[in-house]
Amino acid sequence: MRHLMSPLDFSVEELDELLALAHDIELHPEKYAHACEGKKLATLFYEPSTRTRLSFEAAMLNLGGNIFGFSSAASSSAAKGESVSDTIRMISCYADICAMRHPKEGAPMVASRVSSIPVINAGDGGHQHPTQTLTDLLTIHSLKGRLGNFTIGLCGDLKFGRTVHSLVRALARYKNVNFIFISPEELRIPDYMKEVLDENGLPYREVERIEDVMPELDILYMTRVQRERFFNEEDYVRLKDFYILNKKKMTLAKKDMIVMHPLPRVNEISVEVDSDPRAVYFKQVQYGVYVRMALILTLLEVKVC
Ligand code: NCD
Repeated sequence: MRHLMSPLDFSVEELDELLALAHDIELHPEKYAHACEGKKLATLFYEPSTRTRLSFEAAMLNLGGNIFGFSSAASSSAAKGESVSDTIRMISCYADICAMRHPKEGAPMVASRVSSIPVINAGDGGHQHPTQTLTDLLTIHSLKGRLGNFTIGLCGDLKFGRTVHSLVRALARYKNVNFIFISPEELRIPDYMKEVLDENGLPYREVERIEDVMPELDILYMTRVQRERFFNEEDYVRLKDFYILNKKKMTLAKKDMIVMHPLPRVNEISVEVDSDPRAVYFKQVQYGVYVRMALILTLLEVKVC
């Protein structure tokens, strides 16, 4: 039985297969409409979520399966002091697969060790968010036609943003990816992430101003400042509006650059950018459903001919 804790749990070849399956689902959704009939997905969310939880639920419903779960720690027995290990032992009796989000780094991993059903990490603290990465890879592959040979600018909260940490690890396995990290001093990418790139011989630069690098980018990956991971409100307030992508800054970009964002957006992308054809963050949401459908089929070992 397989779990998904990190995007690296799949080899590059397995990822290619998963993305191909997601693409087939996009083209022929009817083929998959009953693939998970009689199966149940549990969503165990100890931290807020809109997209990730609902896209997992939409994915399982699109496959003809059933869903149940909780959307906050307060509404589960965690509020009474139940451990993640005990909860998952019990959920294993109710469901066939589960997706877990938790504020503590490593909590889904702890769950996977005692679980008798596949556990999917749906975000653990500032650590990893592998299913957002699968979404991002499918978006890049579908819209740019390749996973490699591009310059990607990752902008915003690179210190606490788990989507960035997962995506950088995943992209580090492809060829000719040039990383530009755009952040204020306080929110720079952690050293252990730079080591991943050094080990893979991939080039990167760190800059503070988005305007300085905009013309070079094939992909701009914007992120929100992660308020919930700050120790004090003052620092958050000082940094929250450091970057605001607007129409004026978009004039500096290539005609075929794409702007991605894992969402939720706060102020970092002005709504006036939404109508720019290069803004693909809402398309990304749709890709997230296809790729989660592909993931559920893969982990449940359901084959559709
Ligand atoms: C991200 C997350 O939860 O890390 N959201 C998501 O799952 N799409 C990004 C964020 O919260 O900023």
